[in-house]
Amino acid sequence: MQIQDNLMDPSVISDPYTYFAEIRTNDPVHWSDDFGGWIVTRYEDVAFAFQDQTRFSAERVTPSRKASEKKKKELASTYNVLSHWMVFNDPPKHTRLRLLVNKAFTPSAVEKIKPRIVEISNELLDEMANNEKADIIKDYAYALPILVISEMLGLPKNDRDKIKKWSDDLMLLVFGAVDVPDRHEKAQKSLQEMYDYLHDIASKRRENPQDDLISAIAFAGDGGDKLTTDEIISTCSLLVFGGHETTTNLIANGMMSLLTHPQAYKELKDNPSLISSAVEEFLRYEGPSKAMIRIAKEDLELGGKKIKQNERLLLVQASANRDPAKFTKPDKLDITRHPNQHLGFGRGIHYCLGAPLARVEGEIAIKQLIQRFPQMTLEDVQIEWQPTIINRALKRLPVTLRGTSS
Ligand code: HEM
Repeated sequence: MQIQDNLMDPSVISDPYTYFAEIRTNDPVHWSDDFGGWIVTRYEDVAFAFQDQTRFSAERVTPSRKASEKKKKELASTYNVLSHWMVFNDPPKHTRLRLLVNKAFTPSAVEKIKPRIVEISNELLDEMANNEKADIIKDYAYALPILVISEMLGLPKNDRDKIKKWSDDLMLLVFGAVDVPDRHEKAQKSLQEMYDYLHDIASKRRENPQDDLISAIAFAGDGGDKLTTDEIISTCSLLVFGGHETTTNLIANGMMSLLTHPQAYKELKDNPSLISSAVEEFLRYEGPSKAMIRIAKEDLELGGKKIKQNERLLLVQASANRDPAKFTKPDKLDITRHPNQHLGFGRGIHYCLGAPLARVEGEIAIKQLIQRFPQMTLEDVQIEWQPTIINRALKRLPVTLRGTSS
């Protein structure tokens, strides 16, 4: 059967699950000319490729295949910063970066920020309560994660809007927003500004350490080994970037799932202790990360297909997480689902470093939102998703906050 070969087709963007289910059933490891690589859709194959770092490389930071030589030169400094992101590195560089950053980004750092997440969420909800309607993304889910990660890092409060803008511009590049023609230039300019900004702060913290994550990262050591200045800055930019867009989408996609499934919404309202398993289910059912890229390090076989060295693979979590071979009734939202071994945070050595923080943020944000506006309903408008291959992000989530707080 002929599989439609356009990952950016509006029907695929609005409902990737039906599209990927068709591939999973008919040609589970599928060559796509449009993507320029293999689309991997079965849970078993996706999990396998995530875990086998000897044959699947995460070093995927290269300018677009279609970019001119001139453009490639212009983008060199952008790719230099991204080249120190642990997520784009294989061992041994990945091992070293992750080990050092782990020493700073600890469970106790996440535990410490919890009360502030509650406060920040309450402040945003107080503002929302002044109106009858809201856009959950613009008014809540967008702001919360950036405020949290900025505070953890120790970045001044007044700088948060510009940090958010830099991170949004970078997202256009990393998540491949092909509908924005000048996305490379925007990302380049913002990354340079962010680099200079973080350089200044990191230098100050090296001279005068504070009780914050940037200082902890700057001083994290293993034997005599420490991160270089470039690595500190790249890592901080990765945490800012990794720490907000995906978490915004966890909160928004989770709320969207609840608002379109009144039974699950009621179940969670009646039994708030279900929030942890509900968040796991949102990560599976409508996870923020739709797919991740890997490069074959050698000729290999996957799902019966011969993959050649240097060919790209798109590991589709949105498909793996709905694979009936792994999950019972995979297209049903079940906030009590157990076990739930979704691949929303990846698997293997690159398993999301920020997962504990993302879970805490998602749980607090959604629980408090429901408690404050228990009668909330979705507005009757067309739901639109951002046109990207890699992430699953709503453009807006307009709601009526009926029954606003007393
Ligand atoms: C719901 C929210 C989030 C989702 C869905 C998510 C998803 C992911 C995924 C799928 C990966 C694996 C990438 C790969 O294998 O190539 C990853 C890695 C990573 N994430 Fe997250 N993430 C989230 C939140 C966060 C937060 C809050 C932070 C930090 C503040 C963070 C920091 C990172 C870092 C540093 C890595 C790289 C780990 C490594 O390469 O060893 N993420 N994330």
